[in-house]
Amino acid sequence: MKALVYHGPGRKAWEDKPKPDIKVPTDAIVKILKTTICGTDLHIMKGDVPEVTDGRIIGHEGVGIVEETGGAVSSFKKGDHVLISCITSCGKCEYCKKGMYSHCIDGGWILGNLIDGTQAEYVRIPHADNSLYPIPGGADEEALVMLSDILPTGFECGVLNGQVKPGDTIAIVGAGPVGLAALLTAQFYSPAEIIMIDLDDNRLEVAKTFGATQLVNSGDGKAVEKVMTLTGGKGVDTVIEAVGVPSTFEICEAIVTAGGHIANIGVHGKSVTLHMETLWSKNISITTRLVDTVTTPMLFKTVQAQKLAPRKLITHHFRLDQVVEAYETFGNAAKEKALKVILTA
Ligand SMILES: NC(=O)c1ccc[n+]([C@@H]2O[C@H](COP(=O)([O-])OP(=O)(O)OC[C@H]3O[C@@H](n4cnc5c(N)ncnc54)[C@H](O)[C@@H]3O)[C@@H](O)[C@H]2O)c1
Ligand SMILES: [Zn+2]
Ligand SMILES: [Zn+2]
Repeated sequence: MKALVYHGPGRKAWEDKPKPDIKVPTDAIVKILKTTICGTDLHIMKGDVPEVTDGRIIGHEGVGIVEETGGAVSSFKKGDHVLISCITSCGKCEYCKKGMYSHCIDGGWILGNLIDGTQAEYVRIPHADNSLYPIPGGADEEALVMLSDILPTGFECGVLNGQVKPGDTIAIVGAGPVGLAALLTAQFYSPAEIIMIDLDDNRLEVAKTFGATQLVNSGDGKAVEKVMTLTGGKGVDTVIEAVGVPSTFEICEAIVTAGGHIANIGVHGKSVTLHMETLWSKNISITTRLVDTVTTPMLFKTVQAQKLAPRKLITHHFRLDQVVEAYETFGNAAKEKALKVILTA
């Protein structure tokens, strides 16, 4: 089969790889129908995720058709259409029992990281019963690709951990696909104001059409002053960090109001200054989370009921064998006006 293979920082190729086999009875082999590229894949390509080694097939999102199942897989059979979760989970270990699939002792974020991933013609999915979701006939499969990672990520790490409530004023730093997923799912709870902060005016304009009430371009270094002016000097009840660099986390620390929440989503490669000299007395909480994808079934229902329209996040289409070109587009998102790219086999 063909797959996108990582060969160290900055080096990747669409090349021949052996088709995966069932290794243990809980595995399934899935033929990829549609996949996409994540901001995290760009981090991998830069060499920011050293666990990813030369020869790894990357990608952790997608939908496909079950090609083969191991003897212990009971919920899926050959021919079933499935959504692939970016998180693999056994459903049985101590962490899985707590709903913390991201820390499954035999799973977590392994796809396209510690084992071969989804930017390929076929992928092996361990613990298939708990790591795949059935797709009913007639569903918009392309839109469902947004459920593999970004929608549960924005919702769980941002909205749920940030305790967004009706009437709140919230801010989201980073209007990439993950920040926009937080923007869409925050609206389940009817916050009064949603302030979107980014450097890219195009993404900010998109955010406005998705329900942001105020836009702040932080390129002039004045994001904090602007948010304080917009909130009458109070700051925001919840601020969601969806970039993953020290300067954006510091914006969060400066704009959270007393009693508020900072919900971090971004993957950080550098340490960040924690301003305890101003925060110690502010009754705030700071949360971190690797997405558990434990809300995927709930989000699936909201998509099916058209309460959530993830198709809006898709801006570009490519064939799966054009994946290298798709990386160019997604990697130059501001110039290309790109959000999510869909790769179709
Ligand atoms: N916690 C998790 O489980 C989890 C899961 C998936 C993704 N992530 C992380 O979430 C983050 C966002 O992912 P994405 O796919 O949306 O990435 P992305 O790179 O597409 O988007 C990041 C956005 O941040 C903006 N930005 C960059 N520097 C900025 C600055 N200084 N000030 C304001 N805005 C700035 C960019 O313009 C861009 O719009 C990444 O760090 C990704 O690795 C975390
Ligand atoms: Zn991802
Ligand atoms: Zn487990």
